[in-house]
Amino acid sequence: MALWGGRFTQEADVRFKQFNDSLVFDYRMAKQDLEGSKGWAKAICSVGIITKEENEKLQTALNELLAEVEHDPHSIANAGFEDIHSYVESRLIDKVGELGKKLHTGRSRNDQVATDLKLWCRAQAAVLLDSIRGLQKSLLKTAEQFKDTVIPGYTHLQRAQPVTFGHWALAYVEMLDRDYIRLKNATDLMNRCPLGAAALAGTAYPVDREKLARDLDFSEATRNSLDSVSDRDHVLELLNCASISMVHLSRFAEDLIIYNSGEAGFVELSDRVTSGSSLMPQKKNPDALELIRGKSGRVIGALMGMLVTVKALPLAYNKDLQEDKEGLFDALDTWHDCLDMAGLVLEDIKVNADATLDAAKGGYSNATELADYLVTKGIPFREAHHIVGEIVVFAIKEQKPLEMLTLEQFKQICPKIESDVYPCLEIDALLSKRCAKGGVAPGQISSAIEFMKQHLAC
Ligand code: ARG
Repeated sequence: MALWGGRFTQEADVRFKQFNDSLVFDYRMAKQDLEGSKGWAKAICSVGIITKEENEKLQTALNELLAEVEHDPHSIANAGFEDIHSYVESRLIDKVGELGKKLHTGRSRNDQVATDLKLWCRAQAAVLLDSIRGLQKSLLKTAEQFKDTVIPGYTHLQRAQPVTFGHWALAYVEMLDRDYIRLKNATDLMNRCPLGAAALAGTAYPVDREKLARDLDFSEATRNSLDSVSDRDHVLELLNCASISMVHLSRFAEDLIIYNSGEAGFVELSDRVTSGSSLMPQKKNPDALELIRGKSGRVIGALMGMLVTVKALPLAYNKDLQEDKEGLFDALDTWHDCLDMAGLVLEDIKVNADATLDAAKGGYSNATELADYLVTKGIPFREAHHIVGEIVVFAIKEQKPLEMLTLEQFKQICPKIESDVYPCLEIDALLSKRCAKGGVAPGQISSAIEFMKQHLAC
């Protein structure tokens, strides 16, 4: 039965009902709808709309429903009601009869849905905060395992300067740390309770909304009823958090896809996260990573969709707002799964240290060192840069890395070069020189790992 109908003489068209109903997806807020209802029953009891005994009866029935829905929330989805609010109210009436019909006094589905969704967002954010920490811990383990494994570092996808696989992993720990803080900030901002705003103008009963807010574990009540029922900033913020984090995960996936390519051969992915080709027997494809990269698109799409949905919506509630849920649910599920899958990929990744070292040594990635060496011989950096450019051209012609040129060859281009140039061109020297905070020097990597261990308390 619908929650309305008095002013209607015709049944809703079946196709309209299907189009309008939201239970198929908003059943996911069953727990929150019941929690909110418990809070509201208490609030209307305190202003004398229902008696203490009636409140107790409602609380018991709502608790029973809570236990039922927790057991199998999905079973509600196809129960045929308009939305989760109609479902809960009807089940309540089944349980307590006429008394169930009093619960909606002074409340509207507009403040109810706003409250339910905020409660849901908060619960889901807590789960996601844990998932982010989980992936950070996996990355940290990878960083420790491969802290000295040299790989080429790139700019413009050209080999630039050597780094280590551990340093690479720590870069993603940092990105995820910002994702964590961003999500935490977003949850702090959604901490005001809209219940009691009613349809749009505020409830007509002198409910203590601050107390109601605290009962539902919010820090305070919202301050304006029109804003309360039309605000979906928390949805946008979570979608924004998800999108930025998915961009990070997508870059992580892309790096590993490149490292895993036949051309690079830097890493080998486990059979557990790859799949084969139905035609080409030799293939082992990085599907888990490609899906992470691909799914970033649909999460960003959900953010764009919701921004466009709320843009130019007049105050206060409009049914357009019902479109806030499917994209959000899907985006947060996707984000959650991708965080999990990224951790699984790292679990038994193999790094081919010989291949990465060879690649790091190639591509003249020690050219900057040579320029820095010339600076120690009194040549201004700009000039040194130019000289090294000439030396690189010569070395390319000779098909030799810089460290294989003879001293005579060096001296032909720059007489100031002495035999002490060779140690400077060694890979270890290259790494250990980057010893300022955040650099790739072994000491810096170790202290970054120590810092993160403490930070993540693992
Ligand atoms: N299913 C609706 C939603 O998700 C609930 C609120 C409906 N309110 C109304 N006045 N029709 O937004």
